[in-house]
Amino acid sequence: GGTGLILGIESSCDETAAAVVRRGGEALSNVVASQMELHANYGGVVPELASREHLRNIVVIVREAMARAGVSFAELDAVAVTEGPGLAGALLVGITYAKALAYGVGKPLIGVNHLEGHIHAVLMEARARAEEAMEMPLLALVVSGGHTHLYLAKQVDASWRYQNVGKTVDDAAGEAFDKVAKLLGLGYPGGPWIDGLAGLGNPKAVEFKFGQIKTRAEKGGRSFEELARFDFSFSGIKTAVLRYVETQGMREAISVRREALAGVAKPTVADAAGLCDGRTLDLIASFQGAVVGNLLRQAFGAAEAFGARGIVVSGGVAANGELRRRFLAEGERRGLPVAFPSLALSTDNAAMIAAAAWPRFLAVEFADEGMGALPQMRL
Ligand code: KG4
Ligand code: ZN
Repeated sequence: GGTGLILGIESSCDETAAAVVRRGGEALSNVVASQMELHANYGGVVPELASREHLRNIVVIVREAMARAGVSFAELDAVAVTEGPGLAGALLVGITYAKALAYGVGKPLIGVNHLEGHIHAVLMEARARAEEAMEMPLLALVVSGGHTHLYLAKQVDASWRYQNVGKTVDDAAGEAFDKVAKLLGLGYPGGPWIDGLAGLGNPKAVEFKFGQIKTRAEKGGRSFEELARFDFSFSGIKTAVLRYVETQGMREAISVRREALAGVAKPTVADAAGLCDGRTLDLIASFQGAVVGNLLRQAFGAAEAFGARGIVVSGGVAANGELRRRFLAEGERRGLPVAFPSLALSTDNAAMIAAAAWPRFLAVEFADEGMGALPQMRL
C-alpha cells in the first residue's frame, strides 16, 4: 500500500461510474456512463432496466477508469463502492463486482454512503484547489432527484461525523423539478429544462407558499438538536402547479408542446422556449424561484441555528443556476463561505465515492465479505 489510490465504483441509480482518486482529493480519472436517454423514454428511472444496464457497462467502465488513470489494480490501496441508499438491484451490481475485484486483487473493500459521497464531491475539490481548509462545523445540503437532506458535518481526527438536521417529508426537490417539467410537457430529467427556461419568465408572477413542517418540535422533543428541525416538503408545490395549470386552462397547450418536442430529434431549451407562451414561462420561473427560496431559507436557517462556519451544496439540483447565484449572494451577505462542486461532480459520479472512502481507509474501516446493498441506508 501507500500509493493513496482508491478506485471508486457507483451504481446506485441510473449512472454506472468508476474513478481513481489519489488521497481523497485528486481525481486521476472519472468515467460516467449515463442511462439518461434510455430512461427518458419512460419519463423516469426503470429499476429493472437500470440493473441490466449497470451489468452491461460495469466491466468496461472500470477498465476505462483504470486506463485513463494509467494505474494497475496492484497499485490501488483499496476498492470503494456505494452501499446505499439507492435501487437494490442497481446497488448490487456495483457491490458484487467490487467485492469480487477486491478479493481477486487482494485489496481492502470500503463501503460508502452515497449521500456522504455527494458531500465529499465538494470537499475533494476544495482540497484539490489547496484552499484553506473550510472551518468546522459545515452545513451540508444534499439535494438531488432522490434526496433533500441537511447535515451538520464535522471532521473528528480523520473521520467525518454527520448529524441530520433536516430532510424532506415527501418528494425530493429534484423530484419536484422532474414532476413539474413532465406536467408541463417538457423533457426528462426536468431540472435542466426548468433551469434553462426560468430565466425567460417573471418569478413574481405566481405566488407559491411553503408551510411550516410539523416535526419532532411539536411532539415534545427535549434537546436543542431535537427541537431545531429544518425539514422540507415539495409535494404541495407540485400540486399547486397542477391546480394552476387546470384553473388557467393550460392543458391543451401542454399537449401540443409535448407532442411537438417528441417530434424533435434532440430537443434543446431553445426549442422548448419556442413552444412556451409568456404565462408558462412565468409559471416556470415562479416555481423555480419558490423552490430555490425554500432551500435557501432552510439551509441558512439551519446554518445559523447550529453555528455552521460554511455551507456546502451538492447533488443534481446543485447544478441549478439560480440556486448557485442566490446561495453565493446570501453567503456573501452573511459572511458565510458557500461551496459547490463543479458541474461534473454535482450529479452522480464515482470520484466522490473514492473521495469519501479516503478517511475510512485512513481509519481502517473496511467492509467484510458479508457486505450487501442497503437501499434505505441513512447518513
Ligand atoms: O444527483 P443526481 O444526478 O441523481 C440522484 O441521486 O438523484 O440528481 C438528479 C436530479 C434530477 O431530479 C434532475 O432534474 C436534477 O437533479 N437536476 C437539476 C438540474 N440538473 C439536474 N435540477 C435543477 N436544476 C438543474 N440545472
Ligand atoms: Zn446522487
